[in-house]
Amino acid sequence: MWLPLVMLLAAAPKSDYAGAAACKACHAPQYAAQIKSEHASALAKSKPEQPGEWAFGSGLQAITFVSRADQETYLEHGESWFRELKDYARTPGHPTAAGMRYRIFDPAARILRCFACHSTGPVTLSKEEAIVPTELGVRCEDCHGPSAAHVASPSTAKPVNPARMTSVQVNGLCGSCHRMPAAADDTPDLRNPWNARHQPLTLAASRCFNESKGRLSCTTCHDPHAPLERKTAGYNAACVKCHASPKHKEEVAGDSCVRCHMPGVKIPPGIVFANHRIAVFNASDPLTPR
Ligand code: HEC
Ligand code: HEC
Ligand code: HEC
Ligand code: HEC
Ligand code: HEC
Ligand code: HEC
Ligand code: HEC
Repeated sequence: MWLPLVMLLAAAPKSDYAGAAACKACHAPQYAAQIKSEHASALAKSKPEQPGEWAFGSGLQAITFVSRADQETYLEHGESWFRELKDYARTPGHPTAAGMRYRIFDPAARILRCFACHSTGPVTLSKEEAIVPTELGVRCEDCHGPSAAHVASPSTAKPVNPARMTSVQVNGLCGSCHRMPAAADDTPDLRNPWNARHQPLTLAASRCFNESKGRLSCTTCHDPHAPLERKTAGYNAACVKCHASPKHKEEVAGDSCVRCHMPGVKIPPGIVFANHRIAVFNASDPLTPR
């Protein structure tokens, strides 16, 4: 699962990347939608009123701040901003408010990986060994591959088109960032609320995915270029394509399929993820199917 990051950190040179702005003239609809998405604002420079140097996260759920601590280390701040609280609170996973320090040249490259998943193109180091992302946010070439050759000659050099991928391949593409288990050798425990944020993992544990002969992928329900849809109607329409008339013993009329079958899992202090392990749940436990 780390392969795409390894590629971002090492393989394709900066010059193979054109940047999203170069796609605008010829793919105006995708560009106009994508620039408003959470993907596009997954990484930014901190604003003057914000702490730190880098702001990770669009703010749909939370923003975590990162700055250079000294020559060899970066600091992930211990206080993040949460939309649900409209306030700062302890960053998830941090034992104290002092923040966590990461060495730039740590063999696990944890701080470089933050930038790799939240930006596009290779992550490089300046002469002063400061981290330099190529393009901020998750933009076109994170999913379509380096496309400078395509911009120069659209009909001869083709970017990656996920429309021609199988469902498993699409989930793998999205999963190169959305998976992220705590450690590479962890067997994921789906009763751990933290894993509710790893949608490819949870979706793959559901009967809808395993018994639909490869027809269910992330793009069945999500437009890869648009901001996250918050109305349930579109998601329910996707359910009904495969479950035209589900037989309920209990009264469910007028309610939303996803509210009951993809319930929200809360992770303190203020983030929530829809359980992508589509199943039958008791209202008291959004994690473990009945
Ligand atoms: C000068 C115009 C132009 C620019 C700039 C351009 N494209 Fe394209 N793109 C095209 C054309 C024309 C096609 C259709 C090519 C064909 O099917 O022969 C295309 C097709 C594509 C496809 C579908 C490929 C397939 O095999 O079905 C993707 C994905 C794509 N472009 C992404 C991008 C991205 C990402 C960028 C920016 C980095 C970009 N394009 C910049 C003109 C352009
Ligand atoms: C290069 C890494 C990367 C890839 C590849 C990627 N994502 Fe994301 N995605 C992110 C990051 C980082 C965010 C967080 C944005 C934010 O801060 O809100 C995100 C956010 C989202 C969101 C909005 C919800 C939220 O919490 O912000 C959806 C929906 C989503 N991604 C779906 C997809 C789908 C579907 C695919 C595959 C077609 C995909 N992603 C591929 C990194 C990626
Ligand atoms: C393997 C790829 C990956 C790495 C490494 C990564 N992120 Fe993310 N990050 C994501 C994705 C995907 C999301 C979207 C999560 C979601 O909403 O489902 C995200 C979301 C976030 C958010 C939004 C709030 C939230 O929790 O959803 C923040 C803040 C954030 N990441 C900060 C960081 C920081 C700081 C680091 C490094 C310590 C980091 N990320 C490392 C992929 C990654
Ligand atoms: C999170 C991943 C992701 C990002 C970021 C992304 N795309 Fe796409 N793109 C996709 C997927 C998935 C498809 C295939 C959708 C489908 O199945 O029809 C696609 C399809 C396309 C197509 C081909 C449409 C067709 O009819 O075959 C074009 C052109 C395109 N994207 C351009 C762009 C441009 C330009 C950007 C940046 C502004 C961009 N994409 C950003 C995932 C992404
Ligand atoms: C691509 C087709 C497809 C889509 C889309 C889909 N499902 Fe399913 N789902 C299936 C299949 C196949 C099964 C296996 C049992 C069966 O045939 O009913 C299943 C099983 C289920 C079950 C029983 C789960 C269990 O653990 O016993 C529930 C509940 C369910 N789906 C609800 C939903 C909801 C709600 C949605 C929309 C969020 C949805 N499904 C979307 C194909 C799909
Ligand atoms: C059957 C429909 C369906 C499929 C398939 C699906 N999602 Fe979702 N997804 C949803 C719903 C419903 C929400 C909750 C939307 C809201 O917040 O209102 C959601 C929310 C999200 C979010 C926001 C954080 C969260 O978990 O609430 C991300 C990120 C995401 N999906 C990524 C993915 C990825 C990656 C895949 C493929 C592995 C995928 N989704 C497949 C229905 C789906
Ligand atoms: C109020 C909560 C609720 C809503 C809304 C709801 N369901 Fe269910 N669903 C359940 C419960 C509980 C069960 C298991 C008990 C039963 O069959 O009534 C179930 C069972 C199912 C099953 C499995 C039936 C079987 O064959 O075993 C499917 C498929 C399903 N629902 C799909 C849907 C779809 C599609 C929608 C939206 C059109 C939906 N549900 C709306 C709560 C709900």
